[in-house]
Amino acid sequence: MTEQLIQPKDAIQRLILIFLGMIFLAIVVIVGWYLHEISDPYINEVLSLPGDVSRGQAMFQINCAGCHGLNADGVVGPSLHHVQKHKSKISLIQQVISGKTPPMPEFQPNPQEMADLLSYLEGL
Ligand code: HEC
Repeated sequence: MTEQLIQPKDAIQRLILIFLGMIFLAIVVIVGWYLHEISDPYINEVLSLPGDVSRGQAMFQINCAGCHGLNADGVVGPSLHHVQKHKSKISLIQQVISGKTPPMPEFQPNPQEMADLLSYLEGL
């Protein structure tokens, strides 16, 4: 008996459907995650405030230079030059406030301080 339960053509179509389904799911998850992130009131407030680079730099030298170096060129922590090329504003904020990458501590700057720090980091 050569009767096959699934014809090769059906199998390919099924695979394509599963593949499209997975792409769709991934898009929904990414968009959902992004919407969730930008609905965070703290992040929203930081992004709405104009940052002051020199105040950001002063704060950096007090809080961050011990690990990242006075000019952010890296000591214990990595160099932060051009960090804005691989981290969005939102991930930079989260890097500072989340404490998810020890030994880097969890900082709690108020929104204006965070906005200042962000504009300093983006100019590196
Ligand atoms: C106790 C040491 C320490 C201090 C203090 C510290 N960091 Fe870090 N930081 C690290 C380490 C270590 C990493 C790498 C973490 C990892 O990715 O595992 C890091 C990573 C980062 C990154 C991500 C770099 C990248 O290339 O993705 C940013 C941005 C950053 N720090 C900013 C700051 C800022 C701003 C401050 C001050 C508010 C600060 N850090 C204070 C140790 C420190």
